[in-house]
Amino acid sequence: MNNFVVVRDDDPRAAELQRDGYCVVATSWGARLELGDGFDESAYRARVELARAAGYDIAELDSGWADALYRLESAAAGDYPVTPATPAPEVTPEGERALWADGWRIFGATNAGELVGVTIITQHDRRADTERTVVAAAHRGCGVAGALKAASILAVAAEGARTFMTLADADRIADGTGQAEAGPRRAQR
Ligand SMILES: CC(C)(COP(=O)(O)OP(=O)(O)OC[C@H]1O[C@@H](n2cnc3c(N)ncnc32)[C@H](O)[C@@H]1OP(=O)(O)O)[C@@H](O)C(=O)NCCC(=O)NCCS
Repeated sequence: MNNFVVVRDDDPRAAELQRDGYCVVATSWGARLELGDGFDESAYRARVELARAAGYDIAELDSGWADALYRLESAAAGDYPVTPATPAPEVTPEGERALWADGWRIFGATNAGELVGVTIITQHDRRADTERTVVAAAHRGCGVAGALKAASILAVAAEGARTFMTLADADRIADGTGQAEAGPRRAQR
């Protein structure tokens, strides 16, 4: 039977566990973006404009999009890099509808009226956390995720956020919005 333990890289228990026969089977990383006051918005605006020029409408979504959000997220649910350190998000119609009431802001990309990408973010004072970003398979590699991240950063920064955090699996691509930092990882014996 698998026996997993999740510890941070800098937790002394990591070395102890490995001495006891555990090995690292998955790692996660966090990206952190620190914006100074009066930061230069131009690079973020440029990403949004590039996506718009490519035919994507980028905007914050209200709860009227909950069903479309569920369709998009459930279609892509199998595409996450699932590891013991990074479980797949649980996507249900009720859960999607509850996001707005639970304080999440959802930024979406539409193409010909169809929702093809979202990023889900929340803010506490000067800190913002991205829950996840997902783009429909047919629209990947077109800058949609980058534009969504940029739009969400601009909007939340306008409300005072200056530190932006996001988490993902270590094998997952960098999103160009922050620097990798040590995160939790999971060991297995
Ligand atoms: C990860 C995901 C959101 C990327 O969406 P996307 O619209 O294709 O991404 P973009 O085209 O905006 O590219 C963003 C950056 O990733 C890079 N990138 C995109 N796809 C890549 C790939 N397959 N390999 C390497 N780099 C890639 C781009 O070059 C770009 O880099 P830059 O910021 O330095 O310019 C999309 O693949 C997806 O929905 N995957 C399934 C869900 C998931 O794993 N979400 C992430 C964890 S929350």
